[in-house]
Amino acid sequence: MLKVRTAVLVSGGGTNLQALIDASGRGELPDAELALVVSNRKSAFALERAEKAGIRAEYIGKDGFEQKLGALLDECGIELIVLAGFLKILSADFTEKWPGRIINIHPSLIPSFCGEGYYGLRVHEEALKYGVKVTGATVHYVNHIPDGGRIIFQKAVNVLEGDTPELLQRRVMEQAEWILLPEAVEKVAKEIRYGKSC
Ligand code: GRF
Repeated sequence: MLKVRTAVLVSGGGTNLQALIDASGRGELPDAELALVVSNRKSAFALERAEKAGIRAEYIGKDGFEQKLGALLDECGIELIVLAGFLKILSADFTEKWPGRIINIHPSLIPSFCGEGYYGLRVHEEALKYGVKVTGATVHYVNHIPDGGRIIFQKAVNVLEGDTPELLQRRVMEQAEWILLPEAVEKVAKEIRYGKSC
């Protein structure tokens, strides 16, 4: 059976996409083929990362976004969608067409610091404000509830004395996100390709 054709949706710098590209280059994604990168922001550096890696990179504007995205995914024979720093909420109509086929990386230990309005630096600002001693990242299936789908993997990261939101964000990326996302993509792709292990 062929590798699972995977699309990565992005909006920003694309460091999580880069982690996937690098993991694939190290042979750590044997069951997933990174076939397409789509951004809802034309200026996303993630698109440049995709092009450098020889992956088809497309920008889709907000008019008819989901309809155009659906057509592009069909055209490319996509079977798995990865949200990696993607800042648009996909509708229930869209996510219901992809049960168990959309996963997302969130920079906290869900159910803490997640849901409507919790993304990027704000997540770490809230964690520091609350005074948690441990935070981390979560990869989960996507449904119509922001950050609401079943959890796949989580990884804890210590909050250190003197942490700023930027320092904490960087540590969560390095020690959790960039490790968890490739592992989760390979796990889900393998299950799609060969069926779930009982
Ligand atoms: C990261 O904190 C990620 O967890 C969140 O968006 C931020 C930027 O991600 N989803 P990236 O560098 O664009 O992958």
